[in-house]
Amino acid sequence: MTQDELKAMVGRAALAYVVPGELVGVGTGSTVNKFIDELGRMKDRIAGAVSSSAASTARLHALGIAVYDCNEAGELAVYIDGADEIDPCGHMVKGGGAALTREKIVAAQSRRFICIADESKQVDKLGGFPLPVEVIPMAAQRIVRQFTALHGQATLRTRDGQPLVTDNGQHILDVRGLSIDDPLAFETEVNQWPGVVTVGVFAHQKAQVCLLGTPDGVRTLTF
Ligand code: A5P
Repeated sequence: MTQDELKAMVGRAALAYVVPGELVGVGTGSTVNKFIDELGRMKDRIAGAVSSSAASTARLHALGIAVYDCNEAGELAVYIDGADEIDPCGHMVKGGGAALTREKIVAAQSRRFICIADESKQVDKLGGFPLPVEVIPMAAQRIVRQFTALHGQATLRTRDGQPLVTDNGQHILDVRGLSIDDPLAFETEVNQWPGVVTVGVFAHQKAQVCLLGTPDGVRTLTF
């Protein structure tokens, strides 16, 4: 089974967690794209979506699904999103698609986080995937030095030779070489550094359920 097929499988399985008649929180990325495509088939049974990125909003709109602003929506029953890494407690690293800030906002507004991922995303400990951190551009080099002090090598993410600009008009650092022993404490600490918009560790907004795509089918992990 290809990685694409595993992603499609968990995207389909996530439909079981969508609450009819309610708004659904929608993440970002290639796995979520599979979920959005499936959601199109039950669009008449949901109130609409709250989206975590311009890319997901465009895909939802293309399928005729209404997208609401976070400020118009109350608490969401469920948020469905992918991950770059997920540990045995449901803590995640996210932001490979640069949408981490809005993802964390929508996740915080949701009662349950359902993570959908192929089995390659499961890790014993976070930190193997370069950690995305969204930063205010004027603070970037100062934050690079703060990561150096933690033995992390931070580099500015670029696209077409220019710094990548997020949906929020900010930049992304990718940090290699970190050993994240305590995800909750790490997230709390880095979030306090001046100029950090969002750190891509999702420990405070961890998953309650992970639908993991394996060649033997969907494994449901609960945390
Ligand atoms: C987007 O910013 C990310 O948090 C994604 O959820 C994460 O990178 C997983 O993406 P894929 O589903 O494309 O692997």
